[in-house]
Amino acid sequence: MPHELPPLPYDHKALEPHIDEQTMRIHHGKHHAGYVSKLNAALEKHAKLADWSVERLLGELNKVPEDIRTAVRNNGGGHANHTLFWSIMSPKGGGEPSGDLAEAIKSAFGSFAKYKEELSNAAAGRFGSGWGWLSLDKRGKLLVESTPNQDSPLLEGRTPILGIDVWEHAYYLKYQNRRPDYIQAWWNTINWGAVAERFAAARG
Ligand SMILES: [Fe+2]
Repeated sequence: MPHELPPLPYDHKALEPHIDEQTMRIHHGKHHAGYVSKLNAALEKHAKLADWSVERLLGELNKVPEDIRTAVRNNGGGHANHTLFWSIMSPKGGGEPSGDLAEAIKSAFGSFAKYKEELSNAAAGRFGSGWGWLSLDKRGKLLVESTPNQDSPLLEGRTPILGIDVWEHAYYLKYQNRRPDYIQAWWNTINWGAVAERFAAARG
């Protein structure tokens, strides 16, 4: 079964004014779709990987044949990262988390405000293209990290709970070179209920 582009869970213009409609159309319909088709093209050469989930491909990348390993890392990463990205945003987003996730963030970072600052700085400071993440490590510890290109925390055995795309394609039409403004606006889109579900699932 080839990998498929998941539909956006809301309309292209639903995240306005924070993320504009045209950016969403190109980002989902061209960029994400491109990662999916290139991932499928690479996997055609190795039928034994046909039923591997994208999470397994990234988590066990050393078992992926060398001739397609870089293509899987980049395009599988692009597919997994963007699928997560759409799912943790909502037109009714923003505010702060509650419950177990709020407690875990407070315990790991001191306060929600400090966590927000740390992730914003990691995302703003990523040189070139990449992502900022809230991840859960194997010992159940929350951490902020950033990765280059389409690298996923899954490559290092960590589970991404929430992520922000800081490739220019994610913000340039509306924000041009003002990446920090995009990051600040993005916080207004976070679907904390979806993030809490990811956190609960990752913690097991
Ligand atoms: Fe992107």
